[in-house]
Amino acid sequence: MRVLIAAELQPLLPSDPLPGYGVEWIPSQEPTPRGDYVAIIPLLSRPIGEGELDGLPNLRVLAQCAVGYDNIDLAAAARRGIPVTNTPDVLTESTADLAWTLILSVARRTKEAQEVLYQDSWTGWSPTQLLGLELNGSTLGIVGAGRIGQAVGRRAVGFGMAVLYSDSEGRPEFEEGVGASRRDLFALLAESDVVSVHVPSTNETRGLFDAVRFSSMKPGALFINTARGDLVDEEALREALDLGRLGGAGLDVFSREPDVPRGLVQHPKVVALPHIGSATTVTRRAMAELAVENAAAVLDGRPPVTPVEL
Ligand code: DGY
Repeated sequence: MRVLIAAELQPLLPSDPLPGYGVEWIPSQEPTPRGDYVAIIPLLSRPIGEGELDGLPNLRVLAQCAVGYDNIDLAAAARRGIPVTNTPDVLTESTADLAWTLILSVARRTKEAQEVLYQDSWTGWSPTQLLGLELNGSTLGIVGAGRIGQAVGRRAVGFGMAVLYSDSEGRPEFEEGVGASRRDLFALLAESDVVSVHVPSTNETRGLFDAVRFSSMKPGALFINTARGDLVDEEALREALDLGRLGGAGLDVFSREPDVPRGLVQHPKVVALPHIGSATTVTRRAMAELAVENAAAVLDGRPPVTPVEL
């Protein structure tokens, strides 16, 4: 019985991750092969829809190695009775750290500051050079207070920030633990100095951050996205930055990865990273292992550890 595993995971896994099964390592740029595979462990860059599933008639589990699974057509999997799993929890803290890397970099204008040195144009200490946002006493707005959003919010306490959140449900423990207050999205945008996005990409959230949302943000506020690029109208974001409506943006994700909008990436007010939110050795290994554990469970007839609700 054969299984397909993303080749990029090979260095993170034992040589025989699913004993008893014939593992084929498939690079993520290659199209999904057709065949009698019983399990597939894909990365988020592999689209899996009707066409791919038609070519995998024996598939018993789709064990995504990521918390997000917007590359997978869940309805198509459900129609075939194929369980889908993902890798939540294990990447929460590393992704929250990366969101904070962006918050701090954008608030303190480190890209522009480095450029001064790269260009050899520094003329010495100046009281008015590169003034940034004082995080202490400012307000952080978290859009989507799931695991990662809450982890970002917890870190805000140490920086002396007030925390707002918008979410489809109230999060009483988050409110108690962090002193966070719930707002509807437009109120959050109007009140926050920094807005950090943590919602999944779905039909409801795609394009959520458009010109209207950006113009509803506090003038000069900062926008941080470590969730998914297609939540954002990237043209509208660029315009808001060019017009000075926003003070800066920190982006780890883009709508057509790995193609990135050059105008945004090179914008002096944008700190851009190549989707490295969960990129620590510990987290990436834990993600790979959890994906394998999920596949093994289903193949053994056990419930998966972290199923996606279909
Ligand atoms: C995910 O897991 O969905 C991230 O985007 C990559 O870790």
